Amino acid sequence: MSLIQNSAQNNTVVFEKVFKTYQMGEVLIPALKNISINIPKQKFTMILGPSGSGKTTLLNLIGCLDQQTSGRIEVCGSDVSRLTDDEISEFRAKNIAFIFQNFNLIPVLSAYENIEYPLILLGMNPSERRERTLSMLSSVGLVDHANHRPNQLSGGQKQRVAIARALVKQPGLVLADEPTANLDSKTGASIIELMHNIQEKFGATFVFSTHDPQLISHAEQTFRICDGEILNETTASKGGSQ
Ligand SMILES: Nc1ncnc2c1ncn2[C@@H]1O[C@H](COP(=O)(O)OP(=O)(O)OP(=O)(O)O)[C@@H](O)[C@H]1O
Ligand SMILES: [Mg+2]
Repeated sequence: MSLIQNSAQNNTVVFEKVFKTYQMGEVLIPALKNISINIPKQKFTMILGPSGSGKTTLLNLIGCLDQQTSGRIEVCGSDVSRLTDDEISEFRAKNIAFIFQNFNLIPVLSAYENIEYPLILLGMNPSERRERTLSMLSSVGLVDHANHRPNQLSGGQKQRVAIARALVKQPGLVLADEPTANLDSKTGASIIELMHNIQEKFGATFVFSTHDPQLISHAEQTFRICDGEILNETTASKGGSQ
């Protein structure tokens, strides 16, 4: 309890002895085993691990999309296991944005409209909406593609729209589960770089997962995960890991 209270001031995410076990019929699948991690505020953090190691499970717990089997989780200063379902939905809408491997854009909306959509849901007035949407389009270098629908954009451009859509609400925490998995390695690296630039500009905490060790030089902090356990944590100065 006191550990979490002390560390929560400087950390966006605190896990204390967290286990997640899935049950399939009679079979128990231990997906996360005794995870204790701190993800500091405003860091660009990477979860690195092979297929089946528990990356999605970990991000789903951080994003309050699923609940741990045991242990404590604190996100953006709240002990999320104490919240009701309604409170969790509200908490997520206010604090957390998601970027997906398959982009998850709305196909009938243009790039501009996809980015603007979360602001319509928030009830923002049209002039502020327009200003924020145009500014995000510019931040991801897509002003010229504002009227393109997702099927008229490349994979890298789609992911840039998804990044803009995630950031337009100015959330405290952005989660991206293998955001580069559907991109070639050069485009993937440029997308991670763009995410990092935008993360610094907006001061959000970013957590992304990947199985690609080549991306490690882009992250400020890396947790390696294997078979549901954190193997080690690396912090890096800009330009390379230490
Ligand atoms: N809903 C579920 N029910 C049962 N088992 C699950 C479920 N989701 C994941 N698992 C199991 O939990 C373990 C971790 O899976 P997880 O999806 O978190 O891995 P991952 O690192 O994201 O893998 P990938 O890189 O392939 O996406 C795996 O053994 C997986 O089979
Ligand atoms: Mg996964």
